[in-house]
Amino acid sequence: MGSSEVLVAAARAAREHARAPYSGFKVGAALECADGTIVTGCNIENATYGLTVCAERVALLKALSEGRGQFVRIAVVADTVAPTPPCGPCRQLLWEYCGDIAVVMANLEHETARHQLATLLPMPFDRSFLGK
Ligand code: THU
Repeated sequence: MGSSEVLVAAARAAREHARAPYSGFKVGAALECADGTIVTGCNIENATYGLTVCAERVALLKALSEGRGQFVRIAVVADTVAPTPPCGPCRQLLWEYCGDIAVVMANLEHETARHQLATLLPMPFDRSFLGK
């Protein structure tokens, strides 16, 4: 298991750009591509609340839109003592495009948890059910 310090630092830096005036809960994410490139994201909230986009999804959609398709792990940073895990929809979307990547959770000081996505999303619905 490689060091995640650089990836976590990128997620912490991205968190600074969070647009979270409604919840006040800033999140940063950093997705590591197979070639070592890091693509970051932060949560972006909206007055409708429902249109809020999580940091993980921003990072993933940025990466996909840049033509990236091979991912190794993702770091998620929030200012919490307990680990902040990706929400259900983010887990589903990460599973679709990243497969069983490592999910590293951290706060502003240190890593708080690390799990494989398959552990966080047991019995996922995916393309295999569609015969694809
Ligand atoms: N949020 C994320 O961006 N990622 C997570 O893993 C958990 C939740 C955001 C969504 C919303 O802007 C705020 O945190 C509070 O739920």
